Parts: sequence; structure tokens; C-alpha cells
Amino acid sequence: MANRDSETLLSARRDRVMARWDLKDEIVLVRSGSVLPMAGSDMEHSFQPHPDFAYLSGRGIPDAVLAFDALQDQWQLFGPRSTPDDQVWHQPADPIGVPLEELEGWIALRTEQTVLEAWDDPKIQAGIAAERIHKDELELSALRSAAATSKSGFDWVYQNVAAGMTEREIQVGMEAEFFRAGAVRTAYPSIVATGPNGAYLHYFYGQDDSLNPSTRTLQKGELLLIDAGGEFGGYASDVTRTMVVGAEPTDVQSFLWQVVLSAQELAIDRCRPGQEWREIHLDSARTIGSGLLELGLLRGEVDQLVSSGAVALFYPHGLGHLIGLTVHDAGGYPAGREPSSHPQSRYLRTDRPLEAGMITSVEPGIYFIEALLADPAVRERFAEEVVWDAVEPLRGFGGIRIEDDIHITDAGPEVLSEDIGKPIRIG
Ligand code: GLY
Ligand code: MN
Ligand code: MN
Repeated sequence: MANRDSETLLSARRDRVMARWDLKDEIVLVRSGSVLPMAGSDMEHSFQPHPDFAYLSGRGIPDAVLAFDALQDQWQLFGPRSTPDDQVWHQPADPIGVPLEELEGWIALRTEQTVLEAWDDPKIQAGIAAERIHKDELELSALRSAAATSKSGFDWVYQNVAAGMTEREIQVGMEAEFFRAGAVRTAYPSIVATGPNGAYLHYFYGQDDSLNPSTRTLQKGELLLIDAGGEFGGYASDVTRTMVVGAEPTDVQSFLWQVVLSAQELAIDRCRPGQEWREIHLDSARTIGSGLLELGLLRGEVDQLVSSGAVALFYPHGLGHLIGLTVHDAGGYPAGREPSSHPQSRYLRTDRPLEAGMITSVEPGIYFIEALLADPAVRERFAEEVVWDAVEPLRGFGGIRIEDDIHITDAGPEVLSEDIGKPIRIG
């Protein structure tokens, strides 16, 4: 991040954010954060800077502070200096800014000015988020590189995965390719879900000694749902593909996969400035509801099935979210909008009109989720709208999700993950 062009872009980001803050004489402190100790241990988790700090400074080291003095219209970076003792254990970080020890004195000189901690101040955070939602060319370059690392991992999957492999083997092979292609880490814990496990929306972590992705073996003809992405230059990629492995898809697998793909394609085409995300989301639910009606899993009229929450039993999550320095990025809800309690929209992570420069995921899905389908209260409430006898054989089917990362532009949607194939069958 040393070249002149990047310094110019970083300085322009700070200017835009400062204009949004509209301060008089306050001081703002944007901290990078500290390393997190592992519970009950003297070891530490790997460090990730607070994204607001990374956005404004272009740096990612712990215990640094970017300060802004609104009276002087002046930014000052403070960075820690490692001691000889530190250097016995860790390679020293670059000595950025002025020594952190000087921060206290810098604040003390400004006795009349109020100190605003960025992490605690909604106005400061909102100002940064309002800029983070629009990506500059430095960010777009990192996002494209992140998508390229994901492509390497998914290509490995398409060429190497076969029935008989475990989720864990698939994860390890795929992530190795992310890293070979330059990813620094995965953008989030990889979801590699075979068969029924694809119905857990965020199938990761596991319990006790059993990790997810697990040692479960992929069976011939089962669905494999992979939701994973590399991180590059601090920026995320978030891609999902679902495929049948080692056999021709059944009619039901093929039908539902096509419904999800259609919902995704229709939504991607509407990823244009001025479009309300909530409307695109609700239309994706209508597309999925129509498919479930056609397959005979629901009965009734599609708008009513979306309003009642019947479609949400099979598509409970939102169509997508903003992506950037974090995979579920800042700025999803602008001031004045609150998450809805509508059954189809309560997990929607974004509710705003789209604007050029935003990056959003588009990720519709259809799932057969035991926690919902086995619940007697749910079965009672949707006795008329869900054809439970038709759903019964599909318990254990898993889930289908297809996800890409879209750059909103005035010229139409740019799919950053476009080069990642969408095979319905592999192996
Ligand atoms: N990869 C997490 C998500 O799509 O929400
Ligand atoms: Mn996503
Ligand atoms: Mn995802």
C-alpha cells in the first residue's frame, strides 16, 4: 500500500469521510484494535484490524490509532513501536506514524476539544459506512483479486472432487488453492456441506472435537454445497456453488437447482443503481415460491405464500448483503431503516436502494431445514399452504444455494465471480 496512487486514494477517502462527519472542533480516534487472546491461554488469535481503521489508513497492524483533529483539519497516525523483548517473539511491525506513546500528549494539548471514539459513536461510524459502501479503484482491484483466488479453489473442486471424499478433504484441497492463488486467509469459515448438511445455512464450527466441514463422506448422487471465498488485501469474496456429485441429477434436484439459478439470474439483472434491494429480494422469494408451487410442495397464491412465511420455510435468508473489508459489510441499513419483522425479510442484511460502486452478493437458495419442517407448531400453522406429504420425502435433501458477487455500475451489473463455473454435476 505504499505507492503514490494508493496514498492519493486513501487521502481522498479520508476527505470524503471527514466531510460526512461535519464536525466543528472534536477529535476522532479510529483504533485498529488489539490482538484477541484465546480463552484460557496465553496464545492469540490472528489479528484482523477494525475495518474502519483499515479503510482510512490502508494499514492493518494492532494497537494503532488514526486520529483526526477537526479544529486543525488534520489527521495523525499513531503506531506502536516494538521493544527488544517483543522482537524475541515476533517480527516487528513497520513503525508507522508517530509513536503511540505520544497520543496521550497529543490529546492533552487539545483540552477544550471533545474526544469521540469511533467504535462507540454512531454518527462517526455512519459517516465511515456511508463511504465504505462505494468502492474506489484500489478496493475494486482487491475484490477482483479475491474473486480470482476463489476461482482457483472452485476449479480445483470441479476437477478433483468425487463421491467418497470427505467434507474435510474437499475443504483442505480447495483452501490450499485459495492460498496458492494469493489469498491471505479465507474470507469466513468455509462451508463444505454434503447431503443433508447443506440445509444448515452456516454449516461451520461443529461441536466438541468434531469440526465442520466434517469427516462425513460424500455419497454418489448427493448434493455438495460449497460456500467459500478467499480474502485478498483485506477484501472478501463470497461464492456458493451447489452440485450433484457422481451421478445425473434427479428430476427434483435438477428442477430445484434451475429454480434457484433463475431466481439468481433475474436478481442479478436488476442489480442497477436506483433499484430497491428489498424489492429484488421479495421478487426472488416469488420466483422460488412459484417453483415450489409448480413442484407441488406449496398450494395457494404466490404473493400470499411470501407474506405468510410459507416460502420462508424453504428460503429463510436474505437475497444478499454488501461485501468489502468484511464479508457482511457495513452500511446495509441506512439511517431511518430498521430490519423488518416480515417473515420473508427478517434476515435481510441490506435494505437500501442500490448505488453505483456497491458490491453485493446475490445468493438465493432452497433448503429442507429439519428445525423448521419437523416443528409441530410450524406444521400446524402451515397445514393449508404446505403440502406436507410431498415435503416428507425431501427431508434430508439438504439445500441449494448459488451465490455471486456483483459490482453495481451505471453500465449494468459486473459479476466479479463470473469466471467461476456453475456446473450442476461434477465427478
Ligand atoms: N458466506 C456467508 C454468507 O453468504 O452469508
Ligand atoms: Mn453471502
Ligand atoms: Mn456465502
